[in-house]
Amino acid sequence: MKTPVRVAVTGAAGQIGYALLFRIAAGDMLGKDQPVILHLLEITPALPALQGVVMELNDCAFPLLHGIVATDDANVAFKDVDFALLVGSRPRGPGMERKDLLEINGGIFAPQGKALNAHAKRHVKVLVVGNPANTNALIAQANAPDLDPKCFTAMVRLDHNRALSLLAEKTGTHTTGIRKVTVWGNHSSTQYPDLHHASVDGKPALALVDQAWYEKDFIPVVQQRGAAIIKARGASSAASAASAAIDHMRTWVMGTAEGDWVSMSIPSEGSYGIAPGLIFGYPVTCKDGKYTIVQGLAINEFSRARIAATEKELREERAGVEHLLGR
Ligand code: NAD
Ligand code: LMR
Repeated sequence: MKTPVRVAVTGAAGQIGYALLFRIAAGDMLGKDQPVILHLLEITPALPALQGVVMELNDCAFPLLHGIVATDDANVAFKDVDFALLVGSRPRGPGMERKDLLEINGGIFAPQGKALNAHAKRHVKVLVVGNPANTNALIAQANAPDLDPKCFTAMVRLDHNRALSLLAEKTGTHTTGIRKVTVWGNHSSTQYPDLHHASVDGKPALALVDQAWYEKDFIPVVQQRGAAIIKARGASSAASAASAAIDHMRTWVMGTAEGDWVSMSIPSEGSYGIAPGLIFGYPVTCKDGKYTIVQGLAINEFSRARIAATEKELREERAGVEHLLGR
């Protein structure tokens, strides 16, 4: 058996937390041979509800669960953590864009970045799920100057999985036959789900679907899927978001499959002309616990315009939170 690792989850009493913690404790994220100690952070009024979640986790008698720390203090929650899933923040309601949450949620991520900077392991892997996820990740990263910026990522894996599912349905295939889908940019309605490099059972995806479906159905449906779920459920996606968070971390740790890539929002170093520093959705491969941007992809005019639009939105979001970036 391996030595236990410490996994922090914020917003642990929320709806994503409830769908996430039991899967982490069951070994879905880090493997069936990796014991975990869960560090659960909540705001003070949610501590009683969090105690209920702790009771349930204990009642599962998970073989891999080697301890639980439940707290309302980020300095305790992030002490010596190897992984941090930053979920805690308010979800949007009907009619809102995710960036409308920036004022409400942005303030959460500066102190959490500082607490990670002070207490987390130097190799910590951070995934921001709370919306607007990319810019919240930027705020956390900017407030953690002693950690490698590459420790900080945001989630576009849910969008990536949504794209796989829609394409599989359209082509009458299974998601496991699809390779090399990319979600570029922001986890927002400007995101660009790109099929130009994708294949379905070895055939180019765009040869199997018509351009009108790609432009008028596929792209907007993926972009608006979060809003469609809020409309249908009266609450934002939770189990699928938790599942994507598990996928994101597992791929980061265990690697991508040969001949495939995944989409992760990571700090830009200028690849594909994106402003350095933005947390931007890119195609990446993962190996030995590190991610690498897939370089050299041909980007046509259609794609270039869409990548530029989502980059513009992220630059605007960054400009709106300069006061939280600690510089
Ligand atoms: P929720 O309201 O059910 O739970 C959020 C929890 O966070 C609450 O229990 C709340 O008490 C807690 N919280 C608030 N501030 C906190 C803080 N400073 N520290 C610790 N905990 C704090 O919401 P949810 O449905 O679980 O969604 C959480 C976030 O995830 C939302 O912002 C939502 O929009 C986002 N989300 C992102 C994606 C994605 O793909 N990136 C997908 C789904 C949802
Ligand atoms: C999602 O994509 O489902 C989440 O980001 C929730 C939302 O606000 O759409």
